[in-house]
Amino acid sequence: MKTNEQIYAADARDYLPVFARYKIVLDHGDGVYVYDTQGKKYIDFLGGIAVNVLGHGYPALVDAVASQAKKMIHCSNLYYTEVQADAAEKLAKRFGGGKVFFGNSGAEANEGAIKLARKYAHNISEKKSGIICAWHSFHGRTLATLTATGQPKYQEGFGPLPGGFSYVDFGDYDALEKMVNEKTCAVMLETIQGEGGVHVPPPDYFKKVRALCDRYGAVLILDEIQSGMGRTGKFFAFEHFGIKPDIVTLAKGLAGGVPIGAFVATDKVASAFHAGDHGSTFGGNPLACAAANAVLDAMTPDFLANVETTGAYFKERLLELQAKLPWFVKEVRGTGLILGMELTKEGRDIVNACLEEGAIINCTAGNVLRFVPPLIVTKAETDELMNVLERVLPRFS
Ligand SMILES: Cc1ncc(COP(=O)(O)O)c(C=O)c1O
Repeated sequence: MKTNEQIYAADARDYLPVFARYKIVLDHGDGVYVYDTQGKKYIDFLGGIAVNVLGHGYPALVDAVASQAKKMIHCSNLYYTEVQADAAEKLAKRFGGGKVFFGNSGAEANEGAIKLARKYAHNISEKKSGIICAWHSFHGRTLATLTATGQPKYQEGFGPLPGGFSYVDFGDYDALEKMVNEKTCAVMLETIQGEGGVHVPPPDYFKKVRALCDRYGAVLILDEIQSGMGRTGKFFAFEHFGIKPDIVTLAKGLAGGVPIGAFVATDKVASAFHAGDHGSTFGGNPLACAAANAVLDAMTPDFLANVETTGAYFKERLLELQAKLPWFVKEVRGTGLILGMELTKEGRDIVNACLEEGAIINCTAGNVLRFVPPLIVTKAETDELMNVLERVLPRFS
């Protein structure tokens, strides 16, 4: 067995240095807790960045993966499997009909959604190719999805980028209205911005965006890779806004940690794709679909109601902490169990201090502490995290 120092050295020697990693070596998990190789216990309020929706070691998920692995891990999409048909049926039912496609990651889900929107619009007019995205968005790391990502730092050095993308402030309907026209192929937005700093748009925003897209025949793509899969207390975050997109993209928690991505499109938009237009070797393989089925089965109305209640309690506790440190905590934002706390200072040292105290949290956009814990988290576990934050934050304020 390697020591931690040997693992850090091997990583520095062998792994592409693209991650700014924290210096712990994780070993295993149980519920909302993870343990490092020294046996130290951490309460995990990052959940693999919104992935471990059922926590670690959830029996129904573990059993589904183990028994599917014994039966068949992979087979080609040239053939049918019952697990894939079941997963697609469950997702389409939640979307209210339409067609599902499975890939392996969020970026891939968005890449497929962009392709489908382009093909659909191309059938109307070759000139209908513009895709309007939001500043501070995050859609992935492939060339098309980093171009859709409205953050120049992710794009620098990778040009020439695919054409046709433009950007607008998230939540600003008037600005969007000025940009959409007959040549707009799609408006692509996160329902709640995650990496950009947990931004929730005004309540009437998406109703107006939906009507605008309808007026110009533009495809509305909502990226729910971080905000979907029950995270807000509803299966899709767009349900809070009383609208439905033409395409929704999912990944992260959809299979509870087994790599998966998906897009779901209305029948009308999906009809633009025919055999050969898109594909994936691994996408929707039996192992990933068995895991997705377990996650989808777990997300009952009671489960979702619990996310809403625990999320509201957690937000209340964060607001109480803000009231104690108003000069340090600028704002508490979010819905359900995607919550952000904007600070007046950078947050990385706070994340490190929390790690020392046995809590895993994350900082995004430089100064926003982001909380996306497993959706099974309880109020008592939330109190445990709050005890750490109440000890750590005053030290940095
Ligand atoms: C909203 C959103 N879209 C897309 C992605 C990209 O997903 P992946 O890293 O699985 O490609 C992420 C990842 O953080 C995300 O938060």
